[in-house]
Amino acid sequence: MNVLTSPEAMTAWASERHGDRIGLVPTMGFLHDGHVSLMKRLRLEVDHLVVSIYVNPLQFGEGEDLAVYPRDLPGDLKRCKEAGVDAVFAPEELYPQGFQTSVSVHDLSQGLCGDRRPGHFEGVCTVVARLFGLTRCTTAIFGEKDFQQLTVLRRMTRDLALPVRIVPGELIRDIDGVALSSRNKYLSDPQRLQARTLHHALYAMRDAFQDGVVGVAELVAVGAQILNVDSLDYLTIADADSLAPLATVDRPARALVAGNVGKTRLIDNIAIGPDFPWT
Ligand code: PAJ
Repeated sequence: MNVLTSPEAMTAWASERHGDRIGLVPTMGFLHDGHVSLMKRLRLEVDHLVVSIYVNPLQFGEGEDLAVYPRDLPGDLKRCKEAGVDAVFAPEELYPQGFQTSVSVHDLSQGLCGDRRPGHFEGVCTVVARLFGLTRCTTAIFGEKDFQQLTVLRRMTRDLALPVRIVPGELIRDIDGVALSSRNKYLSDPQRLQARTLHHALYAMRDAFQDGVVGVAELVAVGAQILNVDSLDYLTIADADSLAPLATVDRPARALVAGNVGKTRLIDNIAIGPDFPWT
């Protein structure tokens, strides 16, 4: 496995493999089984598998956890090696001197996490566009855990005609059902119990839908009774394609939740209604 620590080294590595299928799994490190499942999924489809590890300052807002975001490069490299990764791109510096470009997907970046984290998706799009350029990837995978991020990045790729196929990766849960996240490390034992109420709320909403409740207000009320977070950003049901709020679950939809347990911001989501037909 190659470990590449500069943009120049990454591009040189990719150029040597020009014409082959290169798969990219962008990450911010502190890798867990959710990340590994993305690697294993993409491994099947490409000739060379690249994992990028970079805690991207552009996507963190003021007062967020950039300075304390967990890191463990030796552990990450071990996990990548075990997953059959060909190259890890872990640069100290990702942006060139004089960097002044940003990529923004306007409407899809509003609402949900975009309201709480202004500028966040612009930072995500900008780093991902640069990673696409540096790695020359032909396919990239993003987890459904960050459903709005996946939707925004699909749109960016389509709108800019970037030659990259976007693959969605299944959301992976821990043994207690909590969505795996690098930030779960911040949770104390009692907070972990609170974290479980996110997926309990979402599953109760889906059960109610399967029992015939289709009104979003009623479904959200079902979830809200179960949810126990210290501050709630949103609990809602949105169109799975446009992320527009729905009044009735009459098409492929997604139930989504975000909130804080202590200082830790948690998100989760599940499909409701017929599965969205990814194309
Ligand atoms: P990070 O939070 O490290 O996540 C990297 C990728 O792993 C994302 O595509 C995310 O959706 C996916 N992922 C995280 N937890 C998951 C889980 N429990 N199940 C399935 N997939 C999961 O998301 C980012 O980094 C950054 O925004 C990035 C795209 C790398 C840009 O900086």
